[in-house]
Amino acid sequence: MTEEVVSIGKDAPSARPRALTSTSSAVVRLSEAKGEALARVPTGIAELDGLLGGGVVAGQVLLLAGPPGIGKSTLMLQAAAGLSGKCKALYVSGEESLSQVGDRARRLGIEKADITLASETDLDSILKTIADVSPGLIVLDSAQTVFRQDLPGSPGSVVQVRECSSELLREAKARGAVLFILGHVTKDGSVAGPKVLEHIVDTVLQFDAEERRMLRILRAEKNRFGPTSEVGLFEMTQKGLKGVENASALFLEESAQKSACGRAVSVTLEGSRPMLVEVQALVVPTRYPLARRMATGLDINRLFTLVAALEKHLHLRLDGHDIFVNIAGGLKVKDPALDLAVCLAIVSSSRERALSHETVFLGEVGLLGGVGRAGVLDRRLREAERAGFGAAIVDARSAKDLPKSGSRTTLKVLGVEDIAAAVSQALPEKGSQ
Ligand code: TYD
Ligand code: MG
Repeated sequence: MTEEVVSIGKDAPSARPRALTSTSSAVVRLSEAKGEALARVPTGIAELDGLLGGGVVAGQVLLLAGPPGIGKSTLMLQAAAGLSGKCKALYVSGEESLSQVGDRARRLGIEKADITLASETDLDSILKTIADVSPGLIVLDSAQTVFRQDLPGSPGSVVQVRECSSELLREAKARGAVLFILGHVTKDGSVAGPKVLEHIVDTVLQFDAEERRMLRILRAEKNRFGPTSEVGLFEMTQKGLKGVENASALFLEESAQKSACGRAVSVTLEGSRPMLVEVQALVVPTRYPLARRMATGLDINRLFTLVAALEKHLHLRLDGHDIFVNIAGGLKVKDPALDLAVCLAIVSSSRERALSHETVFLGEVGLLGGVGRAGVLDRRLREAERAGFGAAIVDARSAKDLPKSGSRTTLKVLGVEDIAAAVSQALPEKGSQ
């Protein structure tokens, strides 16, 4: 709960609400309501541009949210440097002093970039600076530090964040300037300050870290000018954030124990990008009255369901065993296409037999034990092929349709109807075959 003081009277600040964007009252036919094609200006940071649909658009207001220390300031300074050749860039830091920002720029090797710096928290001064500099790009670092003196509440409070941000948004829209607002997120992942911030901006970018890794994932949660399905992958290096192109290598590099029991490889999609992931399962006799189930990187309820399906359809007794499942590399996946790999990893660990490390497993496992289609299968197969895998076990229907759909792959693709068939293919009984 946040207290909000409403002052009534003629000297009340912003007593009269103002519209956030200019609208016109003219009515036109939908087919006539067209403007010029959006001109996108690339920031020069490939991972960010891909996420934005090619680059930023004049007048676009973006919120970049993430926990402290994730690299928001670093990313924005790099983006500002990339854009500085194309428009006038103004970087307003309320969090750090000019020398701190300068030091960071030197560290990033972009100190020569034509960026105007201001260390400022007072909204009126910021607006004045904007009027003086007349920038095409404004970075506000961060929404939580800026304040208006005539408003109640300390910087970072609901009223301050909302009012200051909307004021800047209006200014940026009026100038056709691109505005990046940086914002911290609270522990539960919501953007600190009012939700209204997410509603008034055009684009919300969320910056997250994958635990135990230097990998940082940038997602578009909302985007009026482009897709929301893409992700940008970054690594924090000595010289700032670097785009990660080959994510698969990153998530599989740990696999020194390629032939370990309980290991199954699958391909997940982050946005439209396929990425190899390693599922690890550990099944051990329990010492507790109630066996434990633990899932890291995937939904625990999904694990319960899959274990129940395995018990039912493979007549596997797992109630006396603790089951731990982990997605290696700290990735979090919701992709149902990983079901098959999770199931096989569990069976592999419980039977103490290793799966082939040259095979990927792709398919959703249903309650009835059937193996269903993994979405966007051929892109996943191509990624596995590229990474040097030799075979794939997928659902029967996709396997049959593959030659017809024209997708050619050098992988040996095996189709299975259900989980029992998958197990006999992936872990054939000794003596057979
Ligand atoms: P920062 O951009 O300040 O994060 P945020 O603005 O989201 O709070 O940077 C986060 C961390 O990144 C910081 O603790 C130091 C580290 N870092 C590097 O490892 N290499 C670099 O080149 C830079 C600039 C920062
Ligand atoms: Mg910062």
